[in-house]
Amino acid sequence: MTAPTLATRFTELVGVRYPIVQTGMGWVSGPSLTAATANAGGLGILASATMTYDELEFAIKKTKSLTDQPFGVNLRADATDADERVDLMIREGVKVASFALAPKQELIAKLKDNGLVVVPSIGAAKHAVKVASWGADAVIVQGGEGGGHTGPVATTLLLPSVVDALGGQDGPTSIPVIAAGGFFDGRGLVAALAYGADGIAMGTRFLLTSDSAVPDSVKQEYLKRSLNDTVVSTKVDGMPHRVLRTELVQALESGSRVKALVAAARNANEFKQMTGMRWTAMLRDGKAMKKSGERTWQQIIMAGNTPMLLKAGLVDGNTDAGVLASGQVVGLIDDLPSCDELIQSVMTQAHARLAALPR
Ligand SMILES: Cc1cc2nc3c(=O)[nH]c(=O)nc-3n(C[C@H](O)[C@H](O)[C@H](O)COP(=O)(O)O)c2cc1C
Repeated sequence: MTAPTLATRFTELVGVRYPIVQTGMGWVSGPSLTAATANAGGLGILASATMTYDELEFAIKKTKSLTDQPFGVNLRADATDADERVDLMIREGVKVASFALAPKQELIAKLKDNGLVVVPSIGAAKHAVKVASWGADAVIVQGGEGGGHTGPVATTLLLPSVVDALGGQDGPTSIPVIAAGGFFDGRGLVAALAYGADGIAMGTRFLLTSDSAVPDSVKQEYLKRSLNDTVVSTKVDGMPHRVLRTELVQALESGSRVKALVAAARNANEFKQMTGMRWTAMLRDGKAMKKSGERTWQQIIMAGNTPMLLKAGLVDGNTDAGVLASGQVVGLIDDLPSCDELIQSVMTQAHARLAALPR
């Protein structure tokens, strides 16, 4: 018997059974994980920031062959081929678009005009208000304990600040809010709903399922970690990035800038060859980044470096040489359920907790 749902505006909006999202994680959220989540009644999101255009096309088609349920694609608005990727998603009938880092207003408009549901991830209340004014259909709010690129404010404070900013203090928010960062069970889902959210999104918890394609040796490395074993480093690509505390990360943290820069340039070159991206395109992306933010050239080269470091760990299983993005929640996870078992246990526990609340 399957667990009953807790229907929210988000489940209605996207057409999924449960208010649970598996987020787009570079090198991790491929067709098998995304389709397994979709078939289990959650919203699975393919990560495309680490895929070439052709790989993304293949991954979308593959996911469609594995599930007839809705799923999403996570993309970078600053990619030089972001427009073509959006066209591809429209053509292939992808249901949901999510954004890694800042979205762009014109891409949101195009996606929406073509019937996609747009759900950017944000890390501050003012960004939630901004993307809502641009027409976003919902937001994923990621608190500081979350894995990957992350902010300084914990979910317990960021979430209510976003709910309030979207007018949800005494009623529904103007657009549905999905809470992310530190979630792994049914208690978290009930807490998020109590804060005024319409669902939860989980990254690290879905990475640690039997359906994720991360090598088993790497999963075992994650399972060994405690609540204190992640660190937020800006040394990987210049932006705060929550990763497992490994020897490489310690070396990056303590190493000289010159050494880090040389290693970064080497990895950026490898990424360029692997993705077929031309240096001119990388420089154009770099210039755009420099214009839009306050990033130094060192950080821009490091940005090209990040995908290679993550790939070394998450795909090649080289836990010493790679960087392993992870939320703090890794310290509370000690099993590798299937996506279906995970979602069922979250929903079953959520119902039990709701029934046990004092009235
Ligand atoms: C291995 C890994 C890779 C990630 N890659 C991406 C990415 O490519 N795009 C993105 O928007 N977020 C990425 N994230 C962040 C997740 O989408 C999500 O917001 C975060 O994991 C939520 O926190 P949690 O890990 O505590 O569940 C990544 C997270 C992890 C753990």
